[in-house]
Amino acid sequence: MNATGEENSGASRPRILTRVEKFEHERGHCFRAALPPEFAAGDSNTDPHSSNLMLAENGVALGPGHAVHDVISERGRGLYSHWHRVLYFSSSDNSDPRQNGREYQVISPVRRSPAVQHCLNVLNGLSDQFSPSDAYAAVEQCLTRLYPAAKMGEDLKSFWHEASLLDIYRGLCGENYRSFERKFTVYNLARAVVRLGGSMAECGVYNAATAYFMALARDESGAQTDLFLFDSFEGLSAPSPIDGLYWRQGALTFPEQLARNNLCEFRNVHFCQGWIPGRFQEIAQRTFCFVHIDVDLYQPTRDSLAFFFPRLVPKGILVCDDYGFDSCPGARRAMDEFFADKPNSIVHLPTGQGVVIKC
Ligand SMILES: C[S@@+](CC[C@H](N)C(=O)[O-])C[C@H]1O[C@@H](n2cnc3c(N)ncnc32)[C@H](O)[C@@H]1O
Repeated sequence: MNATGEENSGASRPRILTRVEKFEHERGHCFRAALPPEFAAGDSNTDPHSSNLMLAENGVALGPGHAVHDVISERGRGLYSHWHRVLYFSSSDNSDPRQNGREYQVISPVRRSPAVQHCLNVLNGLSDQFSPSDAYAAVEQCLTRLYPAAKMGEDLKSFWHEASLLDIYRGLCGENYRSFERKFTVYNLARAVVRLGGSMAECGVYNAATAYFMALARDESGAQTDLFLFDSFEGLSAPSPIDGLYWRQGALTFPEQLARNNLCEFRNVHFCQGWIPGRFQEIAQRTFCFVHIDVDLYQPTRDSLAFFFPRLVPKGILVCDDYGFDSCPGARRAMDEFFADKPNSIVHLPTGQGVVIKC
């Protein structure tokens, strides 16, 4: 085996290219060759997808790799395995590589992060006709290695088939579905209480995507409820020390006119531009069946709770979007402080929302 050097393949990373010359017969169609030390160790019982090595016969890729050794010896036809520091392989036509006159080369990308390499190997291991559950499991394995603290939930949840809601979401938020679960939750909770009487309100509107789902829930129920929307449309107010370091004053600024455009198809929607709680007194005589608070910070969350919770009708629902997010410790603090002396429990949903039902 001669190390023939490193090469650069276009824009990709440097690779080690080595010609394999000294083979020993293992058994059946399987031959073996020791790999030189510049190659990282390959697969093992603890990580059967560790190797990123590729094997070529006269410049044509063989494979698949990661093959079981018994299968290499019985079936052959280019199957191979990089196990610890040894290459176990078969030729493309099961001829003897010591006598068939062909050249065998191993190629290995250099110094890719082990986690990234593991993911590539997992994806490479998917069959040509992988199923949705194969794909889900593969991505789950990749996430586990790349970002162990992040966990994927269950597959096969039926709300991912809600085509019309997904279309609306895509139109408002684009192809990032991170907040769809929360919008879906708001939509369903609002539907559940919209006929209790009273208005609906949102504190922290941004592009009015959640407000859209509130208005939709209302219209589908046939209720005539008013929807009041409070936002500076100049982004966040100044964070206090309680809010940590994640947010900056002025973050999440969104033009009011564009938010209005997003809700132009709905009646009885009232935009109240200004700093919370500046304009709350204009609706002091109202009661509310559903309130959504999504302002990320302590002070406006506290002020929104103080104003709206006493005005929530019995069985009405209040949702704090930010309750379970590490980025919003002030919002959680405001909720916990506000409900500490009240009989109402905060239901912490896995979506990150905190939900309270008025009793
Ligand atoms: C996370 S965004 C709201 C997202 C929106 N609820 C949605 O789901 O589409 C937070 C909003 O709160 C507003 N905001 C934050 N602090 C505020 C304050 N003190 N007064 C008024 N609006 C505020 C920001 O302008 C921003 O639009």
